[in-house]
Amino acid sequence: MSAQTETVRRLSVVDIARLYADGVRIATITAYDFPTAALVDEAGIPLILVGDSLAQVMLGYDTTVRVTMDEMLHHTKAVVRGTKRALIVADMPFLSYATPDDAVANAGRFLREGGVQAVKIEGGVRSAKSIDALVKAGIPVMGHIGLTPQAINAIGKVRVQGKSREQARQLLADALAVQEAGAFSVVLELVPGQLAAAITERLRIPTIGIGAGAGCSGQIQVINDTLGFGDWTPKHARRYADLRGTILDAVSRYRADVEAGTFPGDAETVLMDEAVLDEVLGRSQADRPEMAAGVADLAGIPLDRDL
Ligand code: KIV
Repeated sequence: MSAQTETVRRLSVVDIARLYADGVRIATITAYDFPTAALVDEAGIPLILVGDSLAQVMLGYDTTVRVTMDEMLHHTKAVVRGTKRALIVADMPFLSYATPDDAVANAGRFLREGGVQAVKIEGGVRSAKSIDALVKAGIPVMGHIGLTPQAINAIGKVRVQGKSREQARQLLADALAVQEAGAFSVVLELVPGQLAAAITERLRIPTIGIGAGAGCSGQIQVINDTLGFGDWTPKHARRYADLRGTILDAVSRYRADVEAGTFPGDAETVLMDEAVLDEVLGRSQADRPEMAAGVADLAGIPLDRDL
């Protein structure tokens, strides 16, 4: 098959397991819309998460608790439409997987209506039954432990998880519970680097870290942070671009051009046959604005006349 006719195949969790087995660090990033997802896919990212961080970075909610199934589905569909190769994971919103039955029903919507290949669920031991039910139903699951933002009202504030003995033990138990329930990978969010590396060494599934150091099997970032969209960057993120600066500059220049009358110019304007316009407006060639130099008003039939 030539390079031109080669069809792009959608990756599956089996491909992710192969990358992990081959020791490839799994670069994962979020996407929430069609054009961004298309670029992320083109850049060769194998795993895309339609994160519920959507709530804050795209929809302007204060926490991820606020985003609904319908809102997540709407954005998930756009991401799936924009991509050909990456495996797409949909983040299950707050309370959508509280019971195994809810989990299967809602995850089923993500696969059937949204077109994703997997879902993500927050919580370790506490979510193991839902993960198990999903996996038994044939729905691949990415776990998510450490900081679980949907629990913000119980945690109080965003902070590193697992620094104390009890928390570290709990995190290890959570990681094992997620693996034993059948998840194909697990996100470790805001976990001390040494603990994340130790968890990674003890698991048979890839750990995908965010704020968890370089010892994880892969990394995930919120794309808005990576692209420098906001006026603030979390400590764990690196700004690979300054979209905020680029957009501010571009939109300011656009505004200035519109206000100065220099946009649109000739290059951005479509013209028609003047003779046709003469006929429609009921004017002669001599009445054309450029012919009637110095006369501001258009001659002929006024535009508000009922033609
Ligand atoms: O919603 C999200 O973007 C996430 C990542 C931070 C892992 O859950």
